[in-house]
Amino acid sequence: MALLPSTSCLLTLLLLTGTGGTVPSPQAPPQGCYVAEEAGERTFRCSQAGLSSMPSGIPNDTRKLYLDANKLALVPAGAFQHLPVLEELDLSHNVLEYLSGAAFQGLEGTLHLLDLSANQLASVPVEAFVGLQIQVNLSANPWHCDCALQEVLRQVRLAPGTGTGIVCGPGARPDLVGQEFLLLAGEEELCGIGRGGAQRSTDMALLVTMGGWLMLVVAYLVHYMWQNRDETRHPPKRAPVVAVRSEESSTFSTVV
Ligand SMILES: *[C@@H]1O[C@H](CO)[C@@H](O)[C@H](O)[C@H]1NC(C)=O
Ligand SMILES: *[C@@H]1O[C@H](CO)[C@@H](O)[C@H](O)[C@H]1NC(C)=O
Repeated sequence: MALLPSTSCLLTLLLLTGTGGTVPSPQAPPQGCYVAEEAGERTFRCSQAGLSSMPSGIPNDTRKLYLDANKLALVPAGAFQHLPVLEELDLSHNVLEYLSGAAFQGLEGTLHLLDLSANQLASVPVEAFVGLQIQVNLSANPWHCDCALQEVLRQVRLAPGTGTGIVCGPGARPDLVGQEFLLLAGEEELCGIGRGGAQRSTDMALLVTMGGWLMLVVAYLVHYMWQNRDETRHPPKRAPVVAVRSEESSTFSTVV
């Protein structure tokens, strides 16, 4: 009789371990994703898997990562920093609008191919590309064709034949919409004076400071002229003041 409770205990234990094996672990790849060995390189394929966020279960020895044709809208900071040997990353054909300045943090030594084509990117922070030695595909995005993009193109190399695919989108300056970015970037400095907000505000600060100084000089001149006029009218006025001052200072020095 006393055995009964212990057997039921054992039974629940067995049941628990049994279900533990079938419950998917949080580190397993999502449905539609799989790990493969391609040309001797660990590859993680997650194309057309309906993903709307970065998948879990990517092995840390992955060298090629395919996340194309999903519904990814943003790349958060450090999204791939747990993949220390990642060389190729395909994020094309998603709905990316936002890229963190630290999106590719940790990939400085390894990443050399990045596909961001066919997304909704209008602008990307240049910080995201600093320190990377990469070749990128930036085609088919609604680019604002701004200073940031010009700076990015000074940081990276474009994949061969993809330059003509970088076209200014509807959010760009009206005269740039539909233009090929490389053509206009060649003849226009988009980060120059008058364009960048930072540049404009420093110019403004300089103007205000110079105006301030000018007003001070003018005020001093006016004051000086008025004083001179007073002195020429009443020449003896100044003498007693000076006398009092020298008296005061001498008594002060004798006290000390
Ligand atoms: C992956 O993680 C394992 C266990 O944490 C570690 O031993 C291994 O060195 C890592 N591999 C790489 C390529 O970082
Ligand atoms: C660049 O992206 C476009 C659009 O996705 C694609 O058609 C083209 O083949 C890509 N080119 C390279 C070199 O990756």
